[in-house]
Amino acid sequence: MDAVTCFMYLFIFYLLHLQLFAVADNASYVPSDIIFLNCGSNTSEFVEYDGRNWCGDIASSYVLSNTDTNTKSFVVRAPGTLQSVPEVPYMTARIFQSEFTYTFNVTPGPKFIRLHFYPASYLDFNISGAFLSVSASNFTLLRNFSASLNADYINVPYFMKEFIVHVCGSLLELTFAPSYNARDAYAFVNGIEVVSMPLDLYIHSDVAPLPFVGHDTNPVYIYKDSAMECLHRLNVGGEKITPKYDTGMFRTWDTDEVYILGANVYLEPSNMSMPVLYADNAPPYSVPADVYRTSRSMAPIAGGLVNLNYNMTWFFPVDSGFLYLVRLHFCEIYHDITEYNQVVFTVFLNNQTAEQEFDPIALSGGPGVAMHRDYAVMVPQVKEGKQDLWLDLHPDKDSRPRYYTAFLNGVEIFKLSNVDKNLAGLNPSQSFKSRSDVKPTHKNLQKLKFILIGCGLGAVVLLILLCLVLSSLKVIRPTKVLSWCGLAVYTPNQIEKSRKSSFCRHFSLREMKLATNDFDESLLVDTGGFGSVYKGRVDSGATYVAIKRANPMSEQGVSEFETEILLLSQLRHNNLVSLLGYCNEDGEMILVYDFMANGTLYDRLHLRQGDQPPLSWIQRLEICIGVARGLHYLHTGTKHKIIHRDIKTTNILLDHNWVPKISDFGLSKECYPSLANTNVKGSIGYLDPECCQSHKLTEKTDLYSLGVVLLEVLCARPAVSQGEDGEHVNLAEWVMLCFENGRVEQIVDSNLEGKIEKECFELYLGVAMKCLADRGVERPSIGEVLENLVQAMHFQKNECTVLNGNVHRNDNAGLYGHSDLTPGVEFSEIIMPVGR
Ligand SMILES: *[C@@H]1O[C@H](CO)[C@@H](O)[C@H](O)[C@H]1NC(C)=O
Ligand SMILES: *[C@@H]1O[C@H](CO)[C@@H](O)[C@H](O)[C@H]1NC(C)=O
Ligand SMILES: *[C@@H]1O[C@H](CO)[C@@H](O)[C@H](O)[C@H]1NC(C)=O
Ligand SMILES: *[C@@H]1O[C@H](CO)[C@@H](O)[C@H](O)[C@H]1NC(C)=O
Ligand SMILES: *[C@@H]1O[C@H](CO)[C@@H](O)[C@H](O)[C@H]1NC(C)=O
Ligand SMILES: *[C@@H]1O[C@H](CO)[C@@H](O)[C@H](O)[C@H]1NC(C)=O
Ligand SMILES: *[C@@H]1O[C@H](CO)[C@@H](O)[C@H](O)[C@H]1NC(C)=O
Ligand SMILES: *[C@@H]1O[C@H](CO)[C@@H](O)[C@H](O)[C@H]1NC(C)=O
Repeated sequence: MDAVTCFMYLFIFYLLHLQLFAVADNASYVPSDIIFLNCGSNTSEFVEYDGRNWCGDIASSYVLSNTDTNTKSFVVRAPGTLQSVPEVPYMTARIFQSEFTYTFNVTPGPKFIRLHFYPASYLDFNISGAFLSVSASNFTLLRNFSASLNADYINVPYFMKEFIVHVCGSLLELTFAPSYNARDAYAFVNGIEVVSMPLDLYIHSDVAPLPFVGHDTNPVYIYKDSAMECLHRLNVGGEKITPKYDTGMFRTWDTDEVYILGANVYLEPSNMSMPVLYADNAPPYSVPADVYRTSRSMAPIAGGLVNLNYNMTWFFPVDSGFLYLVRLHFCEIYHDITEYNQVVFTVFLNNQTAEQEFDPIALSGGPGVAMHRDYAVMVPQVKEGKQDLWLDLHPDKDSRPRYYTAFLNGVEIFKLSNVDKNLAGLNPSQSFKSRSDVKPTHKNLQKLKFILIGCGLGAVVLLILLCLVLSSLKVIRPTKVLSWCGLAVYTPNQIEKSRKSSFCRHFSLREMKLATNDFDESLLVDTGGFGSVYKGRVDSGATYVAIKRANPMSEQGVSEFETEILLLSQLRHNNLVSLLGYCNEDGEMILVYDFMANGTLYDRLHLRQGDQPPLSWIQRLEICIGVARGLHYLHTGTKHKIIHRDIKTTNILLDHNWVPKISDFGLSKECYPSLANTNVKGSIGYLDPECCQSHKLTEKTDLYSLGVVLLEVLCARPAVSQGEDGEHVNLAEWVMLCFENGRVEQIVDSNLEGKIEKECFELYLGVAMKCLADRGVERPSIGEVLENLVQAMHFQKNECTVLNGNVHRNDNAGLYGHSDLTPGVEFSEIIMPVGR
């Protein structure tokens, strides 16, 4: 084949490929039948509620077809009005004391039938006596159904049940009846929806069978003439999608919060402007794009090593004795996962493997392409009538994926009618409690999210929580939990795996001894609670490194070691110290970093050797900007916000080019005090007073510490020093005091006298003081600090043109309450004029 033909083939292939996926966010399905009936209402006009136009059923043709004079049905109004219950369709009802049929003229094909119930005591009817049966096209949808028991069970005032029934002819007959024969027996309904749907939206398996979970060899055929009930339809990790925002079929997509096992509440940040690509067999109207834009995944700490120790689990209460269709939706829309074998996991349903080596990217055809998988699961009969359907996702270790994680974007669970054409289950009983009820309260959930997202330290926290949850579930006895937890955080085995997933290098103990001359004391550069830091050389002496050796006696050391690996192995930024590798042999725990030729900022400011010149103001500004950049990355640039908790000049290292590197992530760990019952951590002089009082940790805690660092750089005084009378002097307090007494000139490092431009000084000092605000909310964000420091540098260099107006404008009244460049009267009056 010549080159031209080859090119043509390629071109045709390209065109075909282009056609394969459609990007269509606005594509909706237009149903041929749309009926919204507000039962018991007299209005003939349409009333809008939730994107639907409801009309009263009294004057409608659907009712008039009941010509049988024995039919006893009448309309009622709900007693009182609850603010939380919408007027339409819930405030009116039709009550049936005998069989009653609504007749709908529709096109043939599958229909959604939605029944709305608001169990209240209508007239003299006691609601706990209402048991109804509903049938459609010879299918029993409900039997002996108590709306009040069901509402109590899910703890809501009103609810909706959704069925899918295939209509063969042109009539859909929906029959309501009281469930038993007694004089006071009655049934009721508040609203009815009939909406047609695409022919093969859920069932296109007349030809294609579904995998039958737990029965490898027997796939299941689901025929078009079966009826279904949708029990759960969830937008995993996202907001509830109301009928109005569905793709034309008025479905509701709930949040998954109440179904997930409490510990796994890690949310992927979602990008709502991301395009979602749809394949041919699942057109855009099948699922709203927003379902695919949000997901929940396992915390990706250290490539997800810890995730190997647990499952991401949801529990869905379902009726026993039915076959279920479980549809899972996936769409990988994150930039860092784009190739095959990056995320591979196993799907379990009810403890049985539904799918192994599941690689969504490979199966969907690429990143951003939506896909779903259907499974059939039998839920066997049990006494109570209801039980949980378990969904577990677990990273597939054997496939050696790039990340040990799993994710899910959406779930739909349908109950399939049985051979008796029945869909009715039993009423919920008190004896069954869904496992998903053993979940943190909503408030805790929020907290949990805060912890995970706020601290970015999923691993440790998650495990503690997981242990708590598991122990409260009595899955594992508490003592065992603890050891399991301890192991889970880090075992040598896992570090091995971490090495394989290529995060950082493994050094042998022999190499470490060689590098440090067997831990020669003369190479010691620092010692601390964690252990000792040596200067060493690796790679046959070619590379200088800093070698941090944990003190084997120190428990603090062990946990900080773990945190540091977990965090640093994922972070890369020019202003963060980079971890080259680690060694853990013979009980030794050693971390290896780039060597920083110019030591710590603390040493440079306060412990200058005789011949070292003091840092110039420009150098200091550059260092501060670098530190702010590093912190900005931690707070905003990483997938999960990271709070450093121990920003101080001894943790700011300077490389041979004076580029500052933030180090020591050991403390970032127990960042949520209420969890581990920790004390407030951090270093004296840099501690956020608000955090001390409230034990509430936010990123603003780091900003307080940064404010102290800024002052330290300006004044060349330690954060805490010895005063004349031997008392500790806190730098932040002392600077405040100088302000109040109008003695600002006292605070500036004498080496800088006359070298700082006035505007630069004002801006710099203003930023520092704002960072030291008592309340976190009053402190600027790190982005604002960074912007202002950069601007201060421009002022210093007399490059004022760069001002873009944003620098000082701030929606939250920002750094200054004033919109011009002068930092307010209070400041300008007391600021020392610094000439050149
Ligand atoms: C969105 O709707 C508009 C108007 O109905 C249509 O012109 C456009 O092609 C649609 N876009 C997609 C991606 O379907
Ligand atoms: C419906 O409303 C009309 C007037 O608006 C009233 O005459 C009629 O009695 C009402 N019917 C019922 C069943 O409430
Ligand atoms: C309704 O019936 C239940 C039991 O059938 C009874 O406990 C309750 O008191 C009754 N309520 C009213 C308002 O009569
Ligand atoms: C219901 O069943 C009866 C008797 O088996 C049958 O005649 C009728 O056509 C069925 N109706 C529908 C809608 O399938
Ligand atoms: C969100 O997606 C859009 C479209 O792909 C992209 O341009 C934008 O950069 C993304 N935003 C983020 C924060 O990832
Ligand atoms: C799944 O396994 C757990 C414990 O291993 C057990 O408690 C649970 O009942 C099982 N679920 C099902 C549906 O078999
Ligand atoms: C995950 O769930 C499956 C199925 O229930 C179970 O076999 C497996 O042991 C679980 N794994 C973990 C780590 O809990
Ligand atoms: C109907 O449901 C109620 C409540 O669950 C139960 O007590 C009763 O036995 C059921 N009746 C029948 C006939 O199944």
